[in-house]
Amino acid sequence: LPARAADTSSKGRVLVVSDDVVGPLWAEPMIAGLRSTRGDAASVTIAAGEEHKTLRTVERIWGAALDAGLDRGGMLIGVGGGVVGDLSGFAAATLLRGIPIGHVPTTLLAMVDSAIGGKTGFDTPHGKNLIGSFHQPSFVLCDTDTLATLPQAERRAGLAEVVKSAWIEGEHAVRRLELDTAGLCAGEPEATVRAIRMSAALKAKIVTEDERESGNRALLNLGHTVGHAIEASLGYRGMRHGEAVSLGMVAAFRLGVRLQVTPRADLARLEALLSGLGLPVDVSTYLQPGVLSFIGADKKRRSANIAFVLPRAPGQVGLELVPLAELPSLLLG
Ligand SMILES: NC(=O)c1ccc[n+]([C@@H]2O[C@H](COP(=O)([O-])OP(=O)(O)OC[C@H]3O[C@@H](n4cnc5c(N)ncnc54)[C@H](O)[C@@H]3O)[C@@H](O)[C@H]2O)c1
Ligand SMILES: [Zn+2]
Repeated sequence: LPARAADTSSKGRVLVVSDDVVGPLWAEPMIAGLRSTRGDAASVTIAAGEEHKTLRTVERIWGAALDAGLDRGGMLIGVGGGVVGDLSGFAAATLLRGIPIGHVPTTLLAMVDSAIGGKTGFDTPHGKNLIGSFHQPSFVLCDTDTLATLPQAERRAGLAEVVKSAWIEGEHAVRRLELDTAGLCAGEPEATVRAIRMSAALKAKIVTEDERESGNRALLNLGHTVGHAIEASLGYRGMRHGEAVSLGMVAAFRLGVRLQVTPRADLARLEALLSGLGLPVDVSTYLQPGVLSFIGADKKRRSANIAFVLPRAPGQVGLELVPLAELPSLLLG
């Protein structure tokens, strides 16, 4: 981390942001390392959990940075999962009108998804991630050793995004995951690093071409339209985002089969891969009429239609407009 931080244009003070779970486990030794090479690295520890992804927590980070005397030459480093990453990224985007951010993701989800692409922000009572900005990180440093302490259920949730990435990437990536299923469940390092490299490279490639989601970046929402609706219908409690994405992908593939976009065999293949990784596939349990009302409120809605990301084949994933009026029969029927 000290070497990576030294490689950026920032030569000033550093503030390390982490949460109260990751802090003692991983951030503290990193801070000690930074102090030995860079002088006084300051730190702030926020409360862990999505419920603390609020403006109040952003204010704490701003305050800690200003108390520590960070100036425009300073830098924030977020050590933690997606919550720490999104909050520290937003704080950096706005501090002194923007100072650099470096990410050290410590969840699989953050390594394969949230640390890459520059989306930052926080939640409000109106919804998740409605306030934020784009702020690209100066570096993303994935140390897979940190996953040793990550609970198995969190690891699995991250694997849902890996499956999504593989289907967008292509046949070779899907095949690789099928071969690596047991290794990924066991947290075997080579399989894990392969999955992270594939997902990170895919996201970086897509975001480089389309930072603001006016085109291909929307493909990364595969499984997310129904996934988000399920999460919203449950009040964002009791289900991890990755589990909802797993169900959402099954729903999207089913929709694709009904619209004759997706081959039926691909739906079976997806379900086998997700189940093999310990992810839920039984979307019928969740697809109640009430869930559909949350789809209508989705950001991807375009008047009477909704843009769904549907797969023709691995590597051939595209947007299809589906009339909202037909969704109940297509999804619930
Ligand atoms: N910016 C983006 O593009 C983007 C993309 C996807 C998701 N997100 C956001 O990411 C967030 C979800 O991220 P997440 O799943 O990483 O959740 P998280 O940050 O809440 O982390 C999950 C839990 O794991 C703990 N933890 C983290 N690393 C650990 C480790 N190495 N060992 C033990 N425990 C550890 C955390 O303290 C937390 O309790 C959501 O807020 C979501 O909106 C952002
Ligand atoms: Zn996601």
